[in-house]
Amino acid sequence: MGAIILVGTQWGDEGKGKATDLLADDVDYVVRYQGGNNAGHTIIVGDVTLKLHLVPSGVMYDSVTPVIGDGVVLDPGVLLTELDELVEKGLDVSDLKISGNAHLIMPYHRELDAVTERYLGRQRLGTTKRGIGPTYADKAARVGLRVQDLYDMKIFRQKLDAVLKEKNAVLSRVYNRLPMKGADIETEYAVYAERLRPYIADTVTLLHDALERGKTILLEGAQGTLLDLDHGTYPFVTSSNPVAGGALTGAGLGPKDVDQVIGVTKAYVTRVGTGPFPTELHGAEGDRLIDLGGEFGVTTGRRRRVGWFDAVLARYAARVNGLTEHFLTKLDVLGDFDTVKLCRAYRYQGDEYDHFPPHQSIFHHAEPVYEEHPGWRTDLSQVTRYADLPKQAQAYVDRLEELSGVPIRWVSVGPARVQTLDRE
Ligand code: GDP
Ligand code: IMO
Ligand code: MG
Repeated sequence: MGAIILVGTQWGDEGKGKATDLLADDVDYVVRYQGGNNAGHTIIVGDVTLKLHLVPSGVMYDSVTPVIGDGVVLDPGVLLTELDELVEKGLDVSDLKISGNAHLIMPYHRELDAVTERYLGRQRLGTTKRGIGPTYADKAARVGLRVQDLYDMKIFRQKLDAVLKEKNAVLSRVYNRLPMKGADIETEYAVYAERLRPYIADTVTLLHDALERGKTILLEGAQGTLLDLDHGTYPFVTSSNPVAGGALTGAGLGPKDVDQVIGVTKAYVTRVGTGPFPTELHGAEGDRLIDLGGEFGVTTGRRRRVGWFDAVLARYAARVNGLTEHFLTKLDVLGDFDTVKLCRAYRYQGDEYDHFPPHQSIFHHAEPVYEEHPGWRTDLSQVTRYADLPKQAQAYVDRLEELSGVPIRWVSVGPARVQTLDRE
């Protein structure tokens, strides 16, 4: 009994919501440790589909306590709307715990996210415009407001007025936008404060006490390894650390508390937003994969970019996260191809790279070196035992496992909880 970290190994949307929900059956706490409502995690159980942005994906289970940890950036209005929607669907969210150390997304963060993207033009990142980057920037600059500030409105207003001076100057003089009024923001956030009060908790103490009592904690990553601020494809990344190391800082746990690190990995690759993507497919083949995989963003509705599986990235993710196993998703989506490709290395100026290149320019211009495997041309969605998968599909899974260097424990063949094959 201890902590399990679950991370995305690609550019997000690997199926972390589904994997978390499935594993939540055997855990006591599910903790979001970084990111904010830039995330969109889908859970499907029977007729119910949940698209969660901030609430941890263990919320469907009565036995699970959902926790929003210190490393999350929280938009209180968005969270309250999400909670209302869950209650409307008949879920009990009363045991949600929120860290007072989480940083608040403020209206000027959302506005700055939108205007800086516009300003960047062709060099824009394609952010979700939820204010994530500006909020983490203020956290690092030590001018952020935290959830706990909501419970001392005098301090809240003091900090707000200090930071608004600079934000309003930037908004009005650089971006030609209207300045924001401290009084309006205070009034809005005071209402949120009262509604959020029952959920505020000392989450670090709560989680450590739980571990001492032999409980199991699942740390649910948002985004993915290649979107990590330090280890991803900077600057085309998010502003937090989705990798396993970020789970520890974001939840306040130590390395010794962790038993397992599970990488959620799609059987192909997708990306939303801009940035390099060596195995990206354009044209009819890409369109087909988008349609078959239903690859449209949960948060912004944007069409995702798609490409063949990239084993260089899978190996890199295995290392920087210290993965102990993979949860492979969406194998069923490849069921309609005569052949499936996977990238085992990159080629750049005559050299071959089987590791993530140390310079971004190489990655930008990397040409994938592909292996081509026979497809299985079978609908996998009803398969219930791994051994019943067509042998070509098993061979593909074995090869992914071999190239990434980490065992593939689960293979997912559909969005529903039951469409999961456990190889153990
Ligand atoms: P997350 O952000 O990592 O939680 O992933 P998203 O929810 O954004 O995107 C994953 C999408 O794939 C969702 O629509 C899931 O319902 C769906 N999904 C997850 N696993 C599978 C699978 O094995 N097969 C298929 N066909 N869909 C899946
Ligand atoms: P989940 O948790 C996919 C991407 C955005 C953009 C970049 C920066 O559902 O996997 P941000 O708003 O974070 O400043 O945007 O990161 N991005 C995601 N892409 N899945 C996500 O979350 C993402 N969260 C952010 O598209 O390229
Ligand atoms: Mg998503």
